[in-house]
Amino acid sequence: MTDLGRDQLLNLDRQLFLARYWQREPLLIKNAIVDFRTPISSHELAGLALEDAVESRLIEHCDSSWQLLHGPFIESDFLRKSPWTLLVQAVDHCIPEVAALRKLMDFIPQWRVDDVMVSYAVAGGSVGPHYDNYDVFLLQGEGSRRWQLGQFCDETSALVPHESLRILGDFVPREEYLLGPGDMLYVPPGVAHWGVAQDECTTISIGFRAPRIQDMLSRWVDELLQEMRPDQFYRDDQRAPVTRAGEISPADLSRAETQLQTAMNRLRDTRWFGELVTEPRDPPSYDGEEIASAHALIKAGVKVVELRAYSKVAWQEETEDIVVFANGQSRPFSPSILPSLLTLCQSWRLEAADLREALTDPETLRLLMYLMESGVVDVQ
Ligand code: SIN
Ligand code: CO
Repeated sequence: MTDLGRDQLLNLDRQLFLARYWQREPLLIKNAIVDFRTPISSHELAGLALEDAVESRLIEHCDSSWQLLHGPFIESDFLRKSPWTLLVQAVDHCIPEVAALRKLMDFIPQWRVDDVMVSYAVAGGSVGPHYDNYDVFLLQGEGSRRWQLGQFCDETSALVPHESLRILGDFVPREEYLLGPGDMLYVPPGVAHWGVAQDECTTISIGFRAPRIQDMLSRWVDELLQEMRPDQFYRDDQRAPVTRAGEISPADLSRAETQLQTAMNRLRDTRWFGELVTEPRDPPSYDGEEIASAHALIKAGVKVVELRAYSKVAWQEETEDIVVFANGQSRPFSPSILPSLLTLCQSWRLEAADLREALTDPETLRLLMYLMESGVVDVQ
């Protein structure tokens, strides 16, 4: 793994940012990164957009209408008359130097990060005024882009009719910033924004994700239903006599709600949240042979264990265990794994020196096997 993330320190007062801006207000961070060098050139980005396995889109603004094309592209797709933007998703999965940028945000849990998207635009290129449901740090790579920030939006905000793009019909600019290489703009969920390339430019979006409350509820209810005994029923002992035939009285309803609440408060599982938020964007593919050789390597004396930067790993402390979440799975371990787990989450690597001692602990050995089988680490 490259050292880029460690060297490129973020010029930000984290306490102040979290107290005042995170999820609430946009923030311009001029010269956000000390000695900034872009981790990806526009040529490399264009190359990625030619690949089948990479998710890419191209947005062209032509005669006041917006056109969306999906990749993979061929080189001639990049010869266009109207201003256009190429957007490549999950570039952190392909380019370690881009993945390293996630480290700049390590004052926010890594399981909140979704992916790093990179865009390239010709002069005048833009994806139109819009809002996102998630927090994003927009880091200017090459060239310059003028950003306008507008009103807070939600699902009632009017959109331009388009079958797939969500461009705002009504954009009310309130602030305007010109970003050059190394400048960053934080935009919280719901804030309208519109970035127009001033010249050929790249923009790196470190995007966060948060689970939908709907998904949390459905996961939580699934767990509850699995735990609950089926022989529990609605009870109405000590009820008052019926006064109006056929009526469901407010007391009947309130009894049902109270009993439901009581059942809900009995959920013992505490792992549904970790399993939900560590679900991978693309499920990892590891074949049996790879697993067998990694197993053998771990046992024979592995030299380096490296966390895949984009992997979804988290952990939580329970009464007796440390529960480790990896790519949507969970497994309990004894607290003896904690030093290795912390080093891995903090520095994304366990070196030979860390491993020599760590692997004398059978639980840590079991942890590494689990992380490897879940596809969140590489071993050498
Ligand atoms: C872009 O990179 O052009 C768009 C990013 C965004 O607005 O979220
Ligand atoms: Co956006």
